[in-house]
Amino acid sequence: MPDRKVALVVGASRGLGLGLVQAFVSRGWEAIATVRDAHGRDALETLAGNGLVSIEHLDINRPEDITALRKRLSARVLDVLFVNAGVSIDPSIAAEDVATQDFVDVMVTNALSPLRVMGALHDLVGPEGVVAAMSSGMGSVSDNAGGGWEIYRASKAALNQMMKSFAIRKGDGRTYIAMSPGWVRTEMGGEGAPLDVETSASGIAETLIARSGARGIHFVDFGNRPLAW
Ligand SMILES: NC(=O)c1ccc[n+]([C@@H]2O[C@H](COP(=O)([O-])OP(=O)(O)OC[C@H]3O[C@@H](n4cnc5c(N)ncnc54)[C@H](OP(=O)(O)O)[C@@H]3O)[C@@H](O)[C@H]2O)c1
Repeated sequence: MPDRKVALVVGASRGLGLGLVQAFVSRGWEAIATVRDAHGRDALETLAGNGLVSIEHLDINRPEDITALRKRLSARVLDVLFVNAGVSIDPSIAAEDVATQDFVDVMVTNALSPLRVMGALHDLVGPEGVVAAMSSGMGSVSDNAGGGWEIYRASKAALNQMMKSFAIRKGDGRTYIAMSPGWVRTEMGGEGAPLDVETSASGIAETLIARSGARGIHFVDFGNRPLAW
């Protein structure tokens, strides 16, 4: 029997991260899923019953958590590292009005911490593997026609820019992907979003599989469509 492919999904307690774990498992992959507290384990515990899911602890904003996870996984080889964790903020807040700490919290969680996770874990990913983070169409500077979501947009644009720099600096032959999931019905996306989690997560998994071995850095959506930076 061939070795199973392995995906590490960071931020998998609910929403798109949980959906991504389900998408990989339904394709016969093993998934290592991270949560930041006991409550986050609930939905994953059910999935873990099939033997293809293991649960790890990680708050991406705690560097000591990242170091500890790196040590626990040091013998593993990953086919996909996917940093999904992210937060939003009241979309109506203008840049000049946001409280400094609120700005810092969003930027650290959505941009700095994903890069720290990548920095610590990317070398566990095999040469044909994929290192990805959940960006957003709102991370595109050139496609910002509508405005709004100023702080969130900035955090995802910063994520894109830092990922691009990381991939260029490493130049290691792995494939790097900044992913837009579309607008999806989750706690963050809200009930009015047009996409369900399964549709987006399945599309993301297929896109990652299709782009494995492509090398370089790509900004794409869940339908494998390239996006403008
Ligand atoms: N939904 C959309 O329409 C949409 C569109 C574009 C991009 N995105 C992006 O997609 C990703 C997932 O969003 P979602 O819609 O699934 O949102 P969600 O339902 O709010 O889920 C957010 C996930 O991130 C985790 N998380 C937040 N801060 C974390 C931290 N410091 N350390 C570890 N995990 C943390 C949460 O864990 P807890 O359960 O512990 O809080 C949860 O698993 C985010 O990066 C988001 O920006 C979503």
